[in-house]
Amino acid sequence: MEAIRRPLARSSLVALFFVVLSLGAFICTRYLDSSAALMDANSPERPMLTPEAVANNPSQNLQTAPKAIDIPLNCSMGDVSRACPANYYPSHIVVEDKAYSSTPPPSCPNYFRWIYDDLWPWRETGITRDMVMSAGRTANFRLVVIDGRAYVERYRKSFQSRDTFTLWGILQLLRRYPGKVPDLDLMFDCVDWPVIKKETFGGPNHPPPPPLFRYCGNDSTHDIVFPDWSFWGWPEINIKPWEALSKDLREGNTRIRWTDREPYAYWKGNPVVAATRMDLLKCNVSDKHDWNARVYAQDWLQEQKHGYKQSDLASQCDHRYKIYIEGSAWSVSEKYILACDSVTLLVKPIYYDFFTRSLMPLKHYWPVKDEDKCRSIKHAVEWGNNHQEEAQAIGKAASSFILDELKMDYVYDYMFHLLSEYAKLLKYKPSVPQRAVELCSESMSCSAKGFEKQFMDDSLVKGPALVDSACTMPPPYDPASLHSVIQSKDNGMKQVDTWEREYWQSHNKQM
Ligand SMILES: *[C@@H]1O[C@H](CO)[C@@H](O)[C@H](O)[C@H]1NC(C)=O
Ligand SMILES: *[C@@H]1O[C@H](CO)[C@@H](O)[C@H](O)[C@H]1NC(C)=O
Ligand SMILES: *[C@@H]1O[C@H](CO)[C@@H](O)[C@H](O)[C@H]1NC(C)=O
Repeated sequence: MEAIRRPLARSSLVALFFVVLSLGAFICTRYLDSSAALMDANSPERPMLTPEAVANNPSQNLQTAPKAIDIPLNCSMGDVSRACPANYYPSHIVVEDKAYSSTPPPSCPNYFRWIYDDLWPWRETGITRDMVMSAGRTANFRLVVIDGRAYVERYRKSFQSRDTFTLWGILQLLRRYPGKVPDLDLMFDCVDWPVIKKETFGGPNHPPPPPLFRYCGNDSTHDIVFPDWSFWGWPEINIKPWEALSKDLREGNTRIRWTDREPYAYWKGNPVVAATRMDLLKCNVSDKHDWNARVYAQDWLQEQKHGYKQSDLASQCDHRYKIYIEGSAWSVSEKYILACDSVTLLVKPIYYDFFTRSLMPLKHYWPVKDEDKCRSIKHAVEWGNNHQEEAQAIGKAASSFILDELKMDYVYDYMFHLLSEYAKLLKYKPSVPQRAVELCSESMSCSAKGFEKQFMDDSLVKGPALVDSACTMPPPYDPASLHSVIQSKDNGMKQVDTWEREYWQSHNKQM
């Protein structure tokens, strides 16, 4: 790919802001202390194959990983919708297998570094109970974790099963890391749009913002981003849990080689949710023009009637280019599109979720102008068809990022680190709210039905992760490295902009 060079310019103010910001983060955030787990070998609910048993049994091959511990759900405890087992997880587990536990866990992917930035507003004040309560204004639920058990106070039902599967995901985290998720108290809002505006909070004369968890944020908000429900499944539209779906997508990629895919840009989705999507429809091929785009409107009612045969994501990787465009806010479809090995044509987004801030133009995707979509897309596709090696490399980098760095293990680790860092900021000891009820995997899944039940079964964490297997947090960006991240993002955008302008200038001359 041609060298990308551009003098420093417009972005230096932004960069300076980030430099100041990250310098503080560097000073203020302590690293997670990876204190060793304690042993609780006398738990009455001993799993059949404890790590101790593995470690003490010489017939086990200790060179390999210790056997996983399986803790099945017990759905025969009477009123399962209320009862949670009294002694459910071993409260602490330890693996005495030195050979295994001395292997240091891998460093977390770079996108974990944004955790420091998301929690930056509270670095000096900490988080008080009043701050948490004030975030309840729009929250769907309040979650309290005490001694590894979850208590939930619901304020309002969310759209579809968002809240259910978000809570389910958190319960699976507790199963995965028993005894390690610290006590905490948080408010969660399942609605699309971020609401904690920077203009209202922030600056020396303002109160610190209410800490509010949700699925996405943007540059003018302080909402804390958290993995969305779709990682555990979206039963209303038959999107299965990410663990299984990502396997399908990986496999789907081998079905048609990039060079054999349709040399056009493909999009399928619900256009009516956003004006920018309606605008994209204008780029569709017609008898008057061909912008190299093939776009289709998804009709979910029709899909439902026909058993979702047309919406199977793994068989949607048959075009060389795939368009990503935001809906009413960020869209869960982004990871499915990026996973395809095709070049993602990313219409300039406004929102970010927990992993998208690490995506780089020309490395993971091709940027498309929001205000000039059709011409941007036409040029992108032509560029790719004329630079097939480079185009395939972009597609491959994106799918590797999604399938490797965003695998479920890392999604849990992201939640773990985010919640741990958040809990460190709390200035009070959380207690169970009066109107909260205890929630556990049994109380959610034993009485569930249909797709909900199936997706819960499929995404159940079978037992605790062995050893201290959470990846280690990378340090916050230091000023120089953050500067270079922002700079190279900016350079990528500018480069495409230049190519595009040149293309259309020469194109118009020819006509
Ligand atoms: C499930 O819970 C019931 C009631 O507490 C108990 O009698 C039963 O032994 C449990 N089953 C298993 C497999 O642990
Ligand atoms: C961020 O999101 C809010 C809520 O959707 C919106 O009002 C605001 O304009 C967005 N900010 C930017 C910079 O786009
Ligand atoms: C886009 O064009 C294709 C081919 O003509 C057509 O099948 C499809 O329905 C069009 N999409 C929309 C949203 O009209």
